[in-house]
Amino acid sequence: MRKSFDEVLKYTEYAMKTISQKSMTDEEKEVFIKETRHNFNTHINPGFLEYRKSAGADDMAMEWMANGDTFTDLHGNTYIDCLGGFGAFNCGHRHPKVVETVANQLAKQPLSSAELIDANRSLLARILADVTPGDLQYTFFTSSGTESVECALKMATLATGRHYYVAFKGDFHGKTHGALSLTSKEHFRGPFLPLLQGTRFAPFGDLDYLTKMLDTLEFIGELPAAIVYEPIQGEGGVNIPPDEWIPGIRKLCDQYGIMMVADEVQAGMGRTGYLFATDYSNVAPDILCLGKSISGSVVPLSACVCSEKAFKGMFPDPLLHSTTTGGNPLATSAGIAAFNVILSEDLCGRAKKSGAIFMEGLEKLHQKYPKLLTTYRGRGLMIAMEFCDGDKGYEVVYEAFNKKLLLSGSLINAKTIRIEPPLNITEEHVRRALVILDESMAIVYEKHFK
Ligand SMILES: Cc1ncc(COP(=O)(O)O)c(C=O)c1O
Repeated sequence: MRKSFDEVLKYTEYAMKTISQKSMTDEEKEVFIKETRHNFNTHINPGFLEYRKSAGADDMAMEWMANGDTFTDLHGNTYIDCLGGFGAFNCGHRHPKVVETVANQLAKQPLSSAELIDANRSLLARILADVTPGDLQYTFFTSSGTESVECALKMATLATGRHYYVAFKGDFHGKTHGALSLTSKEHFRGPFLPLLQGTRFAPFGDLDYLTKMLDTLEFIGELPAAIVYEPIQGEGGVNIPPDEWIPGIRKLCDQYGIMMVADEVQAGMGRTGYLFATDYSNVAPDILCLGKSISGSVVPLSACVCSEKAFKGMFPDPLLHSTTTGGNPLATSAGIAAFNVILSEDLCGRAKKSGAIFMEGLEKLHQKYPKLLTTYRGRGLMIAMEFCDGDKGYEVVYEAFNKKLLLSGSLINAKTIRIEPPLNITEEHVRRALVILDESMAIVYEKHFK
């Protein structure tokens, strides 16, 4: 219900004071947590207070501060962050270089008119052209991963004159209408059907199936504009395709004149031990979607990086596809710093090294609790633990959270639990995370299997 401007003004002052506060008295904390829960219940979505994949509904943990590979709740409990913003915190929380670069830009001009030419967008686009594989050259910047996929679909249609798309079972590409059409889980699609017409799904990693499918689509005159794939499925549960699959997609795209679109919103920016997960296959897509960690883990940013062949439809009218705030000076300053940090601190190498320690530890846990932790897999710091069922997976996550380790479920499912920490997680925290997992699994094992 509407309130007087005076009342609203007072509330903004209260809110701004809390933002500037570094600490609170115990009394202030209780009031503030109550207030936040009330606002979630009344103005965001009451469902969030009931449904949480990582922590129990009754838990009062409220994120307050973050640093490196940890965050601290309002009560002062510090957690090791092995959820890592589902791939958004590759540089760690508040990396000083990113924060400094963003602060420098903030002091000059955070948002531009979007009418004149602005420098940061061009600097970052140049960096992207220099680090991405093949002949990727032109970048359209957006703010969220799903928007980068939207852009890719439109570019593919412009480049080919076709209107259909192919994606894969288990894929997640976002939740705006176009991207949702390629997101595979019925739970998210069902209420919004029909989505983009003519979208087809093939089994992930099955080259024979895809080959036959395209042969049929050519025969019936319904070849797609794009094949959109995740080089490693993230939300789907860290599924790694056979080695021949991605080079096979490249061949099929060349054969049928289809745009090959790699969605690396989650797997990109060093997470798998390679700057881009597609690099593992030594293959270049026509379009590369980036998001999450291109933000430097500080200001949201995403990017759709295209070859000239894929992008040239935008030359005659550069506003054919546009967004007012995508690629703003603040976000692109964060993106520039993100590449500086990833390259100068060898975050790809660190992801490989820490990933190997996790895998070794998970093998031991699998041996120790075989009925509970049925398998595990991963590349770099994109790792999944597979539990015997979702309930027991959730119990492990719950126990781990109580021991101050945050983990992540996948596609509304706790059977597969992901480990995706910042790439600069310390070795001490990797080993501590493994100890917490051991203790948590021991509790659940004792309860159900002894
Ligand atoms: C592979 C992939 N693509 C797209 C998206 C959508 O990104 P956003 O949530 O920023 O819209 C995600 C999000 O998890 C993702 O993992």
